[in-house]
Amino acid sequence: MLIASPWRADFPAIAALQRQDQVYLDSAATTQKPQALIDALAHYYSNGAANVHRAQHLPGAHATQAFEDSRSKVGQWLNAGNSGPIVFTHGATSALNLLAYGLEAVFQPGDEIVISALEHHANLLPWQQLAQRRGLRLVVLPISASGLVDLDAARQLIGPRTRLLALSQLSNVLGAWQPLPDLLALARSFNALTVVDGAQGVVHGRHDVQALGCDFYVFSSHKLYGPDGVGVLYGRHAAFSQLRHWQFGGEMVLDADYQQARFRPAPLGFEAGTPPIAGVIGLGATLDYLAGLDQLAVSAHEAALHAHLLQGLQVRKGIRLLGEPQLALASFIVDDVHNADLAHLLTEQGIAVRAGHHCAMPLMKQLGLAGAIRVSLGLYNDSDDLERFFEALDQALELLR
Ligand code: ALA
Repeated sequence: MLIASPWRADFPAIAALQRQDQVYLDSAATTQKPQALIDALAHYYSNGAANVHRAQHLPGAHATQAFEDSRSKVGQWLNAGNSGPIVFTHGATSALNLLAYGLEAVFQPGDEIVISALEHHANLLPWQQLAQRRGLRLVVLPISASGLVDLDAARQLIGPRTRLLALSQLSNVLGAWQPLPDLLALARSFNALTVVDGAQGVVHGRHDVQALGCDFYVFSSHKLYGPDGVGVLYGRHAAFSQLRHWQFGGEMVLDADYQQARFRPAPLGFEAGTPPIAGVIGLGATLDYLAGLDQLAVSAHEAALHAHLLQGLQVRKGIRLLGEPQLALASFIVDDVHNADLAHLLTEQGIAVRAGHHCAMPLMKQLGLAGAIRVSLGLYNDSDDLERFFEALDQALELLR
């Protein structure tokens, strides 16, 4: 059955890659960009770049307006309402590092930070390093064979010593959508702060941070079809008030003397220095584009394509899926075949997938694997892309076995 993408032509790079005989199946690493974003960047750079929040002049006013419009669009995308500020960072990683430094004073030695066994390094290492700096305990929630955080274990491990729970919404390796509402509610019942890493999850469907009930939500623009170099940190007002300023510099001060200074509240107080202006404006244009799509059609397309991917992998002998991927991606290994060798042959045939540990080394070690191949999908992919991949996979496996 042909699964066509009605949005494929909106992404000029897909046709360009096709001309280079490349099939792009690595959208969990980064996405291709819609023409609407490319036009917005060209418009900004062609019509007068200017710094934001500083200048009296007209180009500065235009840039500031467009920048702040993007902030509102992100707030709408997340349904943040008036619940808390949207801070622009340089990516999800820098947002998580901001939290791990900014919240340092909240912890007392012996407090516990809880994460899960499947976290990406970006949602593990900042907390691990914070735990080392402050003498805290890092508690790791186990996951089930299907790749979900084990709720029963969480009920045992989350308790009065838990000061913060930080979890991914969607695993970048296992493609498992986590039972966050239950886990977050459990942490909240002990007055712990909650952080959601939406780097992979934000791409799928519209989000509602208020309904989710998290204190902080972070994501990277580049995985949501937007520009790279831009991240988002949302936080509830009460949670943000516990965050110390972390990076210091231009435009984040209320008043400065040689010996001391007073700082602005969020969002501007947490955006020291010139922010990624073009990128933020581009993210706004990307959200306009995405908001104009029929969300039900997008979800149906994603589900059909993902089912096609799983089916194609499951019918092939010797292929072992990691967990039970629910959407967006599938990672696998092949009996008696090294993932790097397979990746090499797929690359030679123009198939762009990711191989290795996927920045989740502890998870890979726990699974007893050196690495895996990951195929990940974007809304521009169609079933022909997957057929090309399956053909290349069959040829590669014939050579390697
Ligand atoms: N975190 C990105 C991935 O999973 C880069 O590939």
